[in-house]
Amino acid sequence: MKPLIVAQITDCHLQNDPSQDYRGRDVEQSLNAVVDDVLCQTPAAELILWTGDLVHHGALNGYTRLHERLMGLPLPSYWIPGNHDDADLMRQRGGELNQRTVVQQGWAIILLDSTSEPDGQGGGSLASLELDFLEQQLLLYKDYHCLIGLHHNPLPVDSEWQDSIMLANAGAFWRILASHQQVKGIVHGHVHQPGDCLHQGVRVLMTPASSVQFKARCRQIILEDSPTLELPGYRLLQLYPDGRITTLVKRVAC
Ligand SMILES: [Fe+2]
Repeated sequence: MKPLIVAQITDCHLQNDPSQDYRGRDVEQSLNAVVDDVLCQTPAAELILWTGDLVHHGALNGYTRLHERLMGLPLPSYWIPGNHDDADLMRQRGGELNQRTVVQQGWAIILLDSTSEPDGQGGGSLASLELDFLEQQLLLYKDYHCLIGLHHNPLPVDSEWQDSIMLANAGAFWRILASHQQVKGIVHGHVHQPGDCLHQGVRVLMTPASSVQFKARCRQIILEDSPTLELPGYRLLQLYPDGRITTLVKRVAC
Protein backbone atom coordinates (compact mmCIF):
# COMPACT_ATOMS: atom_id res chain seq x y z
CA MET A 1 0.00 0.00 0.00
CA LYS A 2 2.02 2.96 -1.26
CA PRO A 3 1.51 6.19 0.68
CA LEU A 4 1.47 9.71 -0.71
CA ILE A 5 4.61 11.35 0.68
CA VAL A 6 4.29 15.01 1.57
CA ALA A 7 6.84 17.43 3.01
CA GLN A 8 5.76 20.46 5.04
CA ILE A 9 8.09 23.43 5.34
CA THR A 10 7.05 26.42 7.43
CA ASP A 11 8.09 29.73 8.97
CA CYS A 12 11.08 30.43 6.73
CA HIS A 13 11.04 34.17 7.65
CA LEU A 14 13.12 35.06 4.59
CA GLN A 15 14.46 38.61 4.71
CA ASN A 16 14.04 41.04 1.83
CA ASP A 17 17.82 41.38 1.74
CA PRO A 18 19.02 37.75 1.63
CA SER A 19 22.29 38.68 3.36
CA GLN A 20 20.35 39.71 6.51
CA ASP A 21 19.75 37.21 9.30
CA TYR A 22 16.62 36.61 11.38
CA ARG A 23 17.19 36.43 15.13
CA GLY A 24 20.83 35.48 14.54
CA ARG A 25 20.26 32.77 11.93
CA ASP A 26 21.09 32.83 8.21
CA VAL A 27 17.59 31.83 7.12
CA GLU A 28 18.50 31.54 3.42
CA GLN A 29 21.16 28.99 4.30
CA SER A 30 18.89 27.06 6.67
CA LEU A 31 16.08 26.96 4.09
CA ASN A 32 18.52 25.70 1.45
CA ALA A 33 19.63 22.94 3.84
CA VAL A 34 16.01 21.97 4.56
CA VAL A 35 15.08 21.87 0.87
CA ASP A 36 18.21 19.84 0.06
CA ASP A 37 17.23 17.36 2.77
CA VAL A 38 13.69 17.03 1.34
CA LEU A 39 15.16 16.35 -2.10
CA CYS A 40 17.41 13.58 -0.69
CA GLN A 41 14.57 11.54 0.81
CA THR A 42 13.97 7.96 -0.30
CA PRO A 43 11.25 7.28 -1.20
CA ALA A 44 10.96 10.77 -2.64
CA ALA A 45 8.51 13.37 -1.37
CA GLU A 46 5.84 14.04 -4.00
CA LEU A 47 4.86 17.57 -3.03
CA ILE A 48 5.75 20.31 -0.54
CA LEU A 49 3.27 22.31 1.55
CA TRP A 50 4.54 25.75 2.61
CA THR A 51 2.48 26.86 5.60
CA GLY A 52 3.19 30.54 6.03
CA ASP A 53 5.56 33.17 7.42
CA LEU A 54 7.56 32.53 4.29
CA VAL A 55 8.84 36.12 4.00
CA HIS A 56 9.37 38.03 7.25
CA HIS A 57 8.36 41.48 6.01
CA GLY A 58 6.10 40.32 3.19
CA ALA A 59 7.73 42.23 0.30
CA LEU A 60 7.64 41.43 -3.41
CA ASN A 61 11.34 40.65 -3.86
CA GLY A 62 11.17 37.95 -1.19
CA TYR A 63 8.24 36.23 -2.94
CA THR A 64 9.87 36.62 -6.35
CA ARG A 65 13.04 34.96 -5.07
CA LEU A 66 11.13 32.12 -3.39
CA HIS A 67 8.82 31.62 -6.38
CA GLU A 68 11.81 31.22 -8.71
CA ARG A 69 13.37 28.74 -6.31
CA LEU A 70 10.19 26.66 -5.99
CA MET A 71 9.54 26.63 -9.73
CA GLY A 72 13.01 25.10 -10.18
CA LEU A 73 12.33 22.16 -7.83
CA PRO A 74 11.57 18.71 -9.25
CA LEU A 75 8.30 18.44 -7.27
CA PRO A 76 5.28 20.74 -6.94
CA SER A 77 4.90 23.24 -4.10
CA TYR A 78 1.75 24.89 -2.70
CA TRP A 79 1.85 27.91 -0.38
CA ILE A 80 -0.41 29.69 2.08
CA PRO A 81 0.29 32.88 4.05
CA GLY A 82 1.12 33.40 7.71
CA ASN A 83 0.85 36.55 9.82
CA HIS A 84 4.19 37.88 8.52
CA ASP A 85 3.18 37.44 4.88
CA ASP A 86 1.37 39.70 2.47
CA ALA A 87 -1.42 37.39 1.25
CA ASP A 88 -2.27 39.64 -1.72
CA LEU A 89 1.33 39.71 -2.95
CA MET A 90 1.53 35.93 -2.60
CA ARG A 91 -1.63 35.51 -4.67
CA GLN A 92 -0.28 37.90 -7.33
CA ARG A 93 3.13 36.28 -7.47
CA GLY A 94 2.24 32.66 -6.74
CA GLY A 95 0.62 31.28 -9.93
CA GLU A 96 0.24 27.52 -9.47
CA LEU A 97 1.66 27.77 -5.94
CA ASN A 98 -1.72 29.24 -4.94
CA GLN A 99 -3.68 26.03 -5.62
CA ARG A 100 -5.91 25.51 -2.59
CA THR A 101 -6.93 21.87 -2.83
CA VAL A 102 -4.55 19.14 -3.91
CA VAL A 103 -6.18 15.80 -4.74
CA GLN A 104 -3.92 12.79 -5.09
CA GLN A 105 -3.99 9.07 -4.26
CA GLY A 106 -7.32 9.14 -2.43
CA TRP A 107 -6.41 12.20 -0.36
CA ALA A 108 -7.65 15.78 -0.59
CA ILE A 109 -5.27 18.30 0.97
CA ILE A 110 -7.15 21.52 1.73
CA LEU A 111 -5.10 24.67 2.34
CA LEU A 112 -6.59 27.60 4.28
CA ASP A 113 -5.65 31.26 4.69
CA SER A 114 -5.81 32.05 8.43
CA THR A 115 -4.56 35.65 8.17
CA SER A 116 -7.94 37.41 8.29
CA GLU A 117 -8.57 40.03 11.00
CA PRO A 118 -4.94 40.33 12.13
CA ASP A 119 -4.59 41.60 15.69
CA GLY A 120 -1.22 43.23 15.03
CA GLN A 121 0.45 40.84 17.47
CA GLY A 122 0.59 37.79 15.18
CA GLY A 123 -2.93 36.42 15.63
CA GLY A 124 -5.28 35.71 12.76
CA SER A 125 -8.52 34.00 11.88
CA LEU A 126 -10.36 32.25 9.06
CA ALA A 127 -12.62 34.68 7.20
CA SER A 128 -16.24 33.57 6.79
CA LEU A 129 -15.54 32.96 3.07
CA GLU A 130 -12.66 30.72 4.10
CA LEU A 131 -14.88 28.73 6.46
CA ASP A 132 -17.42 28.39 3.59
CA PHE A 133 -14.62 27.18 1.33
CA LEU A 134 -13.60 24.57 3.90
CA GLU A 135 -17.18 23.31 4.22
CA GLN A 136 -17.64 23.17 0.43
CA GLN A 137 -14.41 21.27 -0.08
CA LEU A 138 -15.24 18.78 2.66
CA LEU A 139 -18.63 18.15 1.02
CA LEU A 140 -17.02 17.84 -2.41
CA TYR A 141 -14.35 15.42 -1.17
CA LYS A 142 -16.51 13.49 1.29
CA ASP A 143 -15.25 10.18 -0.10
CA TYR A 144 -11.58 11.14 0.29
CA HIS A 145 -9.34 11.25 3.31
CA CYS A 146 -8.60 14.88 4.09
CA LEU A 147 -5.56 16.71 5.43
CA ILE A 148 -5.93 20.40 6.26
CA GLY A 149 -3.06 22.88 6.19
CA LEU A 150 -3.12 26.35 7.76
CA HIS A 151 -0.65 28.69 9.44
CA HIS A 152 -2.14 29.41 12.87
CA ASN A 153 -2.49 26.75 15.56
CA PRO A 154 -6.13 25.76 16.09
CA LEU A 155 -5.39 24.51 19.63
CA PRO A 156 -3.57 26.19 22.52
CA VAL A 157 -0.02 24.96 23.09
CA ASP A 158 0.32 25.79 26.80
CA SER A 159 2.53 28.79 26.07
CA GLU A 160 0.98 32.04 27.25
CA TRP A 161 2.31 34.39 24.56
CA GLN A 162 1.58 31.91 21.75
CA ASP A 163 -1.90 30.97 22.98
CA SER A 164 -2.83 34.66 22.85
CA ILE A 165 -2.13 34.67 19.07
CA MET A 166 -3.54 31.27 18.06
CA LEU A 167 -6.35 30.91 15.50
CA ALA A 168 -8.90 33.39 16.85
CA ASN A 169 -11.99 31.56 15.61
CA ALA A 170 -10.82 28.02 16.27
CA GLY A 171 -14.29 27.15 17.63
CA ALA A 172 -15.92 27.76 14.23
CA PHE A 173 -13.19 25.71 12.54
CA TRP A 174 -13.66 22.73 14.87
CA ARG A 175 -17.46 22.89 14.55
CA ILE A 176 -17.14 22.38 10.78
CA LEU A 177 -14.73 19.49 11.24
CA ALA A 178 -17.06 17.82 13.73
CA SER A 179 -19.50 16.90 10.94
CA HIS A 180 -16.86 15.67 8.47
CA GLN A 181 -15.32 12.49 9.75
CA GLN A 182 -13.01 12.10 6.75
CA VAL A 183 -10.62 14.74 8.13
CA LYS A 184 -7.65 12.75 9.37
CA GLY A 185 -5.05 15.39 10.05
CA ILE A 186 -4.14 19.06 10.36
CA VAL A 187 -0.68 20.51 9.77
CA HIS A 188 0.22 24.02 10.85
CA GLY A 189 3.16 26.32 11.53
CA HIS A 190 3.30 29.55 13.59
CA VAL A 191 4.52 27.97 16.83
CA HIS A 192 8.11 27.21 15.72
CA GLN A 193 8.17 23.93 17.65
CA PRO A 194 7.07 20.33 17.06
CA GLY A 195 3.92 18.70 18.41
CA ASP A 196 1.54 15.83 17.73
CA CYS A 197 -1.82 15.35 19.44
CA LEU A 198 -5.34 14.08 18.80
CA HIS A 199 -8.38 16.38 19.04
CA GLN A 200 -11.93 15.41 18.02
CA GLY A 201 -10.35 12.30 16.48
CA VAL A 202 -8.12 14.45 14.22
CA ARG A 203 -4.31 14.33 14.33
CA VAL A 204 -2.99 17.86 14.95
CA LEU A 205 0.63 18.24 13.88
CA MET A 206 2.83 21.22 14.77
CA THR A 207 6.00 21.65 12.77
CA PRO A 208 9.26 23.42 13.64
CA ALA A 209 10.40 26.32 11.50
CA SER A 210 13.00 26.17 8.76
CA SER A 211 14.40 29.26 10.55
CA VAL A 212 14.59 29.65 14.36
CA GLN A 213 12.66 27.73 17.03
CA PHE A 214 10.78 29.02 20.08
CA LYS A 215 11.01 27.26 23.41
CA ALA A 216 7.82 25.40 24.36
CA ARG A 217 5.60 26.32 27.35
CA CYS A 218 6.85 29.85 28.06
CA ARG A 219 5.08 33.00 29.22
CA GLN A 220 7.00 35.09 26.71
CA ILE A 221 9.07 34.54 23.61
CA ILE A 222 12.32 32.67 24.31
CA LEU A 223 14.50 31.25 21.54
CA GLU A 224 15.13 27.52 21.76
CA ASP A 225 18.68 26.83 22.94
CA SER A 226 18.76 23.03 23.07
CA PRO A 227 21.46 21.91 20.60
CA THR A 228 19.06 19.48 18.90
CA LEU A 229 15.75 21.37 19.18
CA GLU A 230 17.18 24.66 17.90
CA LEU A 231 18.06 23.15 14.50
CA PRO A 232 15.98 24.06 11.45
CA GLY A 233 13.35 21.43 10.74
CA TYR A 234 10.48 20.28 8.59
CA ARG A 235 7.89 17.50 8.58
CA LEU A 236 7.50 14.44 6.38
CA LEU A 237 4.08 12.79 6.14
CA GLN A 238 3.08 9.46 4.68
CA LEU A 239 -0.62 9.50 3.79
CA TYR A 240 -1.87 5.95 3.26
CA PRO A 241 -4.82 4.91 1.07
CA ASP A 242 -6.65 3.57 4.17
CA GLY A 243 -6.50 6.99 5.89
CA ARG A 244 -3.56 6.32 8.18
CA ILE A 245 -0.93 9.02 8.67
CA THR A 246 2.62 8.32 9.71
CA THR A 247 4.90 11.28 10.16
CA LEU A 248 8.22 12.46 11.53
CA VAL A 249 10.00 15.75 12.08
CA LYS A 250 13.37 15.99 10.39
CA ARG A 251 16.12 18.27 11.72
CA VAL A 252 18.87 19.62 9.54
CA ALA A 253 22.32 20.69 10.72
CA CYS A 254 23.71 23.72 8.89
FE1 LIG B 1 6.71 32.35 12.20
